[in-house]
Amino acid sequence: MQTTQAFPSKLPNVGTTIFTVMSKLAADTGALNLSQGYPNFNTDPVLIELVAKAMRDGHNQYAPMPGVPVLREAIAQKTARCYNVAYNPETEITVTTGATEAIYAAITTVVQPDRSAGPDEVIVFEPAYDSYVPAIELSGGKPVFVSLDAPGSAIDWNVVRGKITDRTRLIIVNTPHNPTGYVWTTDDLNQLADLVQKHNLFVISDEVYEHLIFDERVHHSLMQHPLLRERTFVVGSFGKTFHTTGWKIGYCLAPTDLTAEFRKVHQFVTFSVSTPMQYALAEYLRNPAPYEALPAFYQRKRDLFLQSIHHSRFQFVPSEGTFFQNVSYAGITSEPDYDLAVRLTRDIGVASIPVSVFYHDRTDHKTLRFCFAKDDETLVQAGERLTRWSLNQ
Ligand SMILES: Cc1ncc(COP(=O)(O)O)c(C=O)c1O
Repeated sequence: MQTTQAFPSKLPNVGTTIFTVMSKLAADTGALNLSQGYPNFNTDPVLIELVAKAMRDGHNQYAPMPGVPVLREAIAQKTARCYNVAYNPETEITVTTGATEAIYAAITTVVQPDRSAGPDEVIVFEPAYDSYVPAIELSGGKPVFVSLDAPGSAIDWNVVRGKITDRTRLIIVNTPHNPTGYVWTTDDLNQLADLVQKHNLFVISDEVYEHLIFDERVHHSLMQHPLLRERTFVVGSFGKTFHTTGWKIGYCLAPTDLTAEFRKVHQFVTFSVSTPMQYALAEYLRNPAPYEALPAFYQRKRDLFLQSIHHSRFQFVPSEGTFFQNVSYAGITSEPDYDLAVRLTRDIGVASIPVSVFYHDRTDHKTLRFCFAKDDETLVQAGERLTRWSLNQ
């Protein structure tokens, strides 16, 4: 029976994501895959052994809905250590299925379709990670875009102020920022806090790259601003921090009243998260060394990749944070970034992500995003191929 005709899509503009498309193309063509954001090296064997131990110890049934208490306690301790901010593990910390679920649940918690004569509006900085807008739309909200003028550029707060209306309900922040690498400053936090106070807004702060930050920069978590701490869902992920993106374990920190509503959504999206992995992470978090080593670890990889394209015709500003490096090819060719990303995958075997996919209107700054969470040989080989290609154009 044909049902599709009478079945309206709730996300008519959404297709298969570019990440799936490029990773498949890379696999089909045997290209070096610097597109999707995940490491091509393994996590710490100590962490793997802790999972196996938790399984052997019988931690194989449903976890409590907000997360196992020892993990919530460990997250509270890590947060206090890193940012000197206290969260109550009982009432303010929820373990989620990756940051993606936390973001979805937080958006669903806050955004309403018709609260004040029209849909709630949500400020989204573009280029933007691709899960934000569909989640806003599924809640009947309206995304309002603020463009970060060129990739890597700072936030123009006058533009942000100009986009605030009576219906603005939420602002989504991502620092360090995928795909530009931009890291929020304390001035950004103060500017945001002014707006939040004046217009009674909520904030989701996607901080999954909190430990991937370079050149002696400091990650300013939104929780460190007292006013923002009371209005913000801070989202973290163990995927980026411990090279375990496939485990999909993240968390949300928010004040008690926000967490109470957040958990109502979370319990009907996934209810709870993989039990043995939660026990393993709780134990592993006792040692800060693995996450404290991350800035140096990834800065070396960033520099290795940049060194390998140093003599190319690509232009770039070293990434401030995340494991992504944007490079401009504007001086080489004028072809659309999507076409070039596909062509480079096919012709020279290097897959990347065209940055236009992070804009709702596909703004094309002639920029490609490369993920440098790869082994050294892959980075150097990719750089050599890109350099050779650029010099032959
Ligand atoms: C900015 C940003 N937020 C969230 C996520 C998703 O994190 P998780 O895998 O923990 O769901 C990613 C993954 O690439 C990301 O880049």
